[in-house]
Amino acid sequence: MADVRTTLKNGIAQLRQADVPSFTLAAELLLLHAINRNRTWLYAHPEEILSDSDTQRFLGLIARRAAGEPTQYLTGHQEFWGLDFEVTPDVLIPRPETEHLIEVALDRLALRELRAGRPQKSDGANLQIADIGTGSGCIAIALAKELPAANFTATDISPSALAVAKRNAIKHAVANRIDFREANLLIPVGAQHVAPHLGEIENSAPPLFHQSPITSHQSRFFDLIASNPPYIGRRESDSLPREVRDHEPHAALFGGTEGYELYANLITQSAAHLKPGGLLVLELGHNSLPAVQPLLDASAWTNIAITNDLAGIPRILAAERL
Ligand SMILES: C[S@@+](CC[C@H](N)C(=O)[O-])C[C@H]1O[C@@H](n2cnc3c(N)ncnc32)[C@H](O)[C@@H]1O
Repeated sequence: MADVRTTLKNGIAQLRQADVPSFTLAAELLLLHAINRNRTWLYAHPEEILSDSDTQRFLGLIARRAAGEPTQYLTGHQEFWGLDFEVTPDVLIPRPETEHLIEVALDRLALRELRAGRPQKSDGANLQIADIGTGSGCIAIALAKELPAANFTATDISPSALAVAKRNAIKHAVANRIDFREANLLIPVGAQHVAPHLGEIENSAPPLFHQSPITSHQSRFFDLIASNPPYIGRRESDSLPREVRDHEPHAALFGGTEGYELYANLITQSAAHLKPGGLLVLELGHNSLPAVQPLLDASAWTNIAITNDLAGIPRILAAERL
């Protein structure tokens, strides 16, 4: 039996030895998770003797982290936009870059209100918003918290991801405003033939969500479509950290051989579903911009803007439907 400080030091040493990035933070988070305590308790009780079962639970988590499992899958949590999200290996772990997508979407919506002569700060009343490839639900849920009167449709091709997203929506008390749909981008699964490779779909598909009561009267239905699609190229797979390549869902990571393959269909389908003046806000891969920007045809899109992330990478593309 050892005390908190000694046990933590032991965990830190094992993670450092295994070349785990941010090994001190990871060991601390895993200890807090194993003993179900918060950080304040940890620093106030360094001499406390841990029970055998707590120590074994912690060392088990350390061994899994040392073998490459991401800390977030071991603790089941990741913060995004100041909110705590449940994460499982069925969903991508939300990334800080994606918070730029939330910022851009809110800025562009505010600008639209300003242009229409309405107060800039809107509660989202009458707005219909789609999050395509919702994963943990982080985009739809963060926007739903910011826009408490808006309604949402969130799609994913993975039913198990949708189950996690629904639990997160319930946890954050927004489930009554988010309609979760199993879909290939914006096409409900079952509405058409889905080719074996993600994104290889026919654009002659029936109107999207045409069977849905919410869109039965209007196909150009949404005021905002937001998406962080899979955008890594399979040929980059070997250069990914093992935490990502071996543990995050491949349907969430890879967009095709190059990575940007899904954007063409996403943009075509979004054009068919956005109201005139509606907004498209997309997250981009580190090298996606040259392939994606030309897809925004001037006959359909205007007010195109690119926002860089903190590393200076063009990360968010926003455009307005004519
Ligand atoms: C990069 S993850 C983004 C998850 C979440 N929106 C986020 O930002 O953390 C992409 C998500 O798109 C889903 N996906 C992949 N291909 C899809 C498709 N063709 N149609 C709908 N969803 C798809 C994946 O299952 C995954 O949940």
